[in-house]
Amino acid sequence: GHVLVLAGGLSYEREVSLRSGRRVAEVLRAAGVSVETRDTDASLVPWILAESPSAVFVTLHGGAGEDGAIRSVLDLLSVPYVGAGSDACRIAFDKPTAKTVVRSVGVRTPASVTLPKETFHDLGASAVLARIVAQLGLPLFVKPSRGGSALGASIVRTAEELPSAMVGCFAYGDTALIEHYIEGVEVAVSVIDLGEGPVALPPVEIVPDDGVYDYAARYTAGRTEFFAPARLSPAASAACAEMAVTAHTALGLRDVSRTDLIVDADGLPHFLEVNVAPGMTETSLLPMAAEAAGEDLGSLCRVLLEQAAA
Ligand code: DAL
Ligand code: MG
Repeated sequence: GHVLVLAGGLSYEREVSLRSGRRVAEVLRAAGVSVETRDTDASLVPWILAESPSAVFVTLHGGAGEDGAIRSVLDLLSVPYVGAGSDACRIAFDKPTAKTVVRSVGVRTPASVTLPKETFHDLGASAVLARIVAQLGLPLFVKPSRGGSALGASIVRTAEELPSAMVGCFAYGDTALIEHYIEGVEVAVSVIDLGEGPVALPPVEIVPDDGVYDYAARYTAGRTEFFAPARLSPAASAACAEMAVTAHTALGLRDVSRTDLIVDADGLPHFLEVNVAPGMTETSLLPMAAEAAGEDLGSLCRVLLEQAAA
């Protein structure tokens, strides 16, 4: 039978997801797999009932694609899929919750405050923000607690920048995660489980042209320089790999994930977040990590689908 690649959907990362879906479909076809791709709306349910795909590769980013909702629908339809189950996604996609879980197993993650929009307004924005600056210290990093692709995220270097960072954040979500910003090297570690337990692919180092890995720097070819593997000491590289595998395991993830982290000046990694549906576009990190490992992306995706269907 054929497999289904799910992309699109209604999140802010819809365009990225369509690109990820196209890429995964392309590499799967090149690996000899019969593939259907579909956007994600209500017509999905009758389509799956009629077509019974052997398994689904979810390249939906943000919102329902990563928060477990779509995977609950697939569970209901008894269609196997690649990646974490819905309960694990719900926990992993919520960044403050994921930080709490990984911290409980000893993973280092920046100090933070979680602030719902209502609290922010009810308590008086300036008083709340002053307290947060005093508690966490500058610089800060502000992002929606449930989001991706750096949408609504920004670095805050002076207290004066915080109010507009909050407004930008609340444009993309109802709850803000405000973290102490760790200066260092941005690194992403993809984790793949081909049936013998989760294994880290080579860490990828991210060096945006203008220092900020924002949406444009992520998805415009040439705007960011990548080093795969990252230019880290063997010890720092091993610590990054260990952190990603620990996070994957502690969060109950399956098959594939990508942990984003910062390596500080002492070579110590700090967990930022985990992605349950890592980007698969031409400029995304997991495909680069696979290439650095000498793995064919299409074969990896095919094996993951075969495992899901087995
Ligand atoms: N949220 C984007 C797709 C990523 O993490 O790659
Ligand atoms: Mg993310």
